[in-house]
Amino acid sequence: MVLPETMAVNALGELVIGGETAGDLARRFGTPLLVYDEELIRKRCREYMTALARSYPRFFVAFAGKAFMTQATAVIMAQEGLGLDLVSGGEIYTALKAGFSPDRIQFNGNNKSDHELSMAVKAGIGRVIADGFQELYALDEIARAHGVVQDILLRVTPGVEAHTHEYTQTGQEDSKFGFSVGDGSALEAVAQALSLPGLSLRGIHCHVGSQVLDLSPFRLAAAIMMDFRARIYQETGALLDEVNLGGGLGIRYQDCDAPPRIQDYVDAVSQAVREACRRHSLPLPVLQLEPGRSVVGEAGVTLYTVGTIKEIPGLRTYVSVDGGMTDNPRPALYGARYSAILAQRAKEDPARQYTIAGRCCESGDVLIWDIDLPEVTRGDILAVFSTGAYHYSMASNYNRCPKPTVVLVSQGMADPIVERETYEDLVAKDRIPARLRKGVEATGRACS
Ligand code: LLP
Repeated sequence: MVLPETMAVNALGELVIGGETAGDLARRFGTPLLVYDEELIRKRCREYMTALARSYPRFFVAFAGKAFMTQATAVIMAQEGLGLDLVSGGEIYTALKAGFSPDRIQFNGNNKSDHELSMAVKAGIGRVIADGFQELYALDEIARAHGVVQDILLRVTPGVEAHTHEYTQTGQEDSKFGFSVGDGSALEAVAQALSLPGLSLRGIHCHVGSQVLDLSPFRLAAAIMMDFRARIYQETGALLDEVNLGGGLGIRYQDCDAPPRIQDYVDAVSQAVREACRRHSLPLPVLQLEPGRSVVGEAGVTLYTVGTIKEIPGLRTYVSVDGGMTDNPRPALYGARYSAILAQRAKEDPARQYTIAGRCCESGDVLIWDIDLPEVTRGDILAVFSTGAYHYSMASNYNRCPKPTVVLVSQGMADPIVERETYEDLVAKDRIPARLRKGVEATGRACS
């Protein structure tokens, strides 16, 4: 397989990430281990920033924290000049704790609680992406109660269907997100937002879907958004200065995936925006993008240790690893497919086909259904690629499995950015009500 561009296999056939061999990383930190190649994250950030700087005068790129949000992520994004697109009080808390500038945060989500909205207003979050009429009214009240005028964008549904898994499509009419352009509610929301004194409407926002490998839905959504901006101008006289086109650019999970380059994606959307401005004789807005997966996805590699190998003659050979749907729920949720290698025997030819199973008590916990690998033995380290986006952020403690260590590697330095959960962490929030304890004492079967 083709490795992510900053990774390599050394002369001994070992996978090397950020100057460290996968074997050393696995020995030092244990498995399962989520390894991030810092150089590749930074490279992707720069690709966005450079592509935009080349093709468009005023822009803002916010990393979509839902893909992978930790304090270290926030620091890297700040250093690379990106903002953050966040979707919960927890993500906002994480960013602020890391010292991230609140005015460079955008707050998205279809159901922000009053508590989260107050938190955002109090913290001075740059933009709230308002979604739903009730939220507009609630936010207006909260802002006025705090004596501030909150800058907002409106989440709009452009009616574009991206060719991706139906669970990751978001721009189509039948969606829980946004005000529809098609049925007139987006224009109504603009009128409401302009009339509410606690809110300052700065622009409009959309997001068509995720893991999109084709540029046409992005172009189409950009054109619809720009037409809508022109319509807002005609109908209300308000010339909105910001247009946020969301994220969604896909990445390579397998050799057969051919995502567009970041440069090509940026060119496509910026041209669509320019073209629409020419058509409507309107000035260019600030162009905002919110990439998540395409920034961190390919930079992540998960290392597992092989345990049980079960051969069912004539049918299938299951290779079980020490993680699974708890650190990577995507195969079970979306039928996602991955590529993988034996991290210390990467130069050996494939010997046969295997199925890589997770360790959870669930038949559906399979990470890769069919993959050709050299003869696998217990103790081998398996490296699964492109696990940097929507893996740790979607990890669970199913079967009370602790979440893995996340380690950031660069030029031979490897530092944990999230420590492995311990069994003690798993029970830390458990409480045994006193009345249960009494019952236990009464039967004389105390539990220590
Ligand atoms: N902006 C908004 C409003 C979004 O809803 C999303 C993703 C993004 C930006 C970032 O999209 P990206 O560039 O990462 O595609 N859990 C799913 C993906 C869900 C994406 C949700 N929204 C998965 O594992 O594929």
